[in-house]
Amino acid sequence: MLLSQLNHKVQSGEKIAMLTCYDATFAKLMEAAGVDILLVGDSLGMVLHGAENTLNVSMHHMTYHTKSVAAGALNTLIIADMPLGSYEHDAEAAYKNAEWLIKSGAHMVKFEGGGEKANTARYLVERGIPVCAHLGFTPQSVNQLGGYKIQGKTAEGAAKIVQDANTMADAGVSLIVLEMVPASLAKNITETIKVPTIGIGAGVDCSGQVLVVQDLLGIYTGPASKNAAEFKSPRFVRNFLKDTNSIQDAVSTYVKSVKNKTFPAAEHSY
Ligand code: KIV
Repeated sequence: MLLSQLNHKVQSGEKIAMLTCYDATFAKLMEAAGVDILLVGDSLGMVLHGAENTLNVSMHHMTYHTKSVAAGALNTLIIADMPLGSYEHDAEAAYKNAEWLIKSGAHMVKFEGGGEKANTARYLVERGIPVCAHLGFTPQSVNQLGGYKIQGKTAEGAAKIVQDANTMADAGVSLIVLEMVPASLAKNITETIKVPTIGIGAGVDCSGQVLVVQDLLGIYTGPASKNAAEFKSPRFVRNFLKDTNSIQDAVSTYVKSVKNKTFPAAEHSY
């Protein structure tokens, strides 16, 4: 799906269903199930490598998996994450890494952070690389944020996220992912900025939703170092495999539930 088709869907009020994807088999299955956007997320550090966080993911990992996803889905918009260290230093270095992801088959790149990253976003967009911003809880800053915590709960925190969303929209980003923010804040941002929003733990009023596919299937039980029996999924996760008969059905049910606004429900939101 082209970016223009995505914008057309958003304008007509259709919700966007996005899922993380890391290989060709899942890419093909997700495309057949009607997933609008495949995100080659740096969450692969956790769900594929078994790490505690996303901090050790490299450009080599990202390009390897982007190529695999692009081989499986020929007609679906692919977004690839820029891993920690690949975009923060200067805009030219960020461009080189973004170019590598595009040459590997991505149509858009995503990176974390707001205002201070606007110059990099603008630099990429002006050179023809579409950008998705990632605001709210930003996993690459997990050490600075002090763990997996909801963001934008205070008036000051909320104002900063609104400001970041506006700054990134003005810089020309095509999409904004909002992770783990109060539903009311995500609604306000979605209604007031000109760029579609994709929520994960951000309530039903975003323009679309994203989940990590292992969460959707209920098969992620935490990092390799931790006891699976003690693992508790985050509030925003719903196991779609539980009530369906196959992975295909679970993914199709996710797409339908996003489109008919039954996912996320209030119990999945903050
Ligand atoms: O890496 C990832 O999977 C992501 C999603 C959580 C949005 O960035």
